[in-house]
Amino acid sequence: MKGIILAGGTGSRMYPLTKVTNKHLLPVYDKPMIYYPLQTLIDAGIDEILIVSGRGHAGHFLELLGSGSEWGVSFTYEIQDEAGGIAQALGLAEGFADEENVAVILGDNIFQDRISGDVSGFSGGAKVFLKGVPDAHRFGVAELEGARVVCIEEKPEEPRSNLAVTGLYMYGSDVFDVIRTLEPSGRGELEITDVNNYYIEEGRMGYKVLDGYWSDAGTFESLLRAGVMVQRYRERKYES
Ligand code: G1P
Repeated sequence: MKGIILAGGTGSRMYPLTKVTNKHLLPVYDKPMIYYPLQTLIDAGIDEILIVSGRGHAGHFLELLGSGSEWGVSFTYEIQDEAGGIAQALGLAEGFADEENVAVILGDNIFQDRISGDVSGFSGGAKVFLKGVPDAHRFGVAELEGARVVCIEEKPEEPRSNLAVTGLYMYGSDVFDVIRTLEPSGRGELEITDVNNYYIEEGRMGYKVLDGYWSDAGTFESLLRAGVMVQRYRERKYES
């Protein structure tokens, strides 16, 4: 399986922190934000990773991460010219994926769980990773019926569950055909939630509810929370 980190977007929600740098390079406790999703992929045994960034400050990703040799993996870089949504950014990875399955992670998502079993056990279709949260309206929200996801709603005013769809997804190589069928949403973007609902309708969507902590870090509040979460976990690990 190949790995894709989506680190595009303008970071407008975090201005002026993002005036002279990219959101994904801001610190989360003691590391640049993008190190965390990168480590999640590397810990899962993925050693070919594409980083999709926007135009602004793109060179800084190269300077920070280089070829990947320091991490024992190989990095490829791609530019998303305009902020056209997560699914559009993923569409740019088709050549890189080269017919293989892909694990896609958002550059501002911080996970504690390890996903190596999910990577080795994945056999096509799609898989999402869910987490119970108190503020589900900020995210894609999954509705479950028995052991199936029956629908995902993007940022619903009245969420049908407390299960946020985190920014970690696995897809078979047909995901690029699915992306080609998408129409832009009301906010003018190709939505990853539309990709996921396609797989749900096809009956080819798996899911897992995560045990460990998870946070996005794309707003002032969640950036602070993510940093505190990482620090607390480190302290606890140290004590035990
Ligand atoms: C995106 C997705 C949303 C998902 C979230 C996870 O939202 O659209 O479905 O729950 O990432 O961080 P964004 O935060 O980019 O608006």
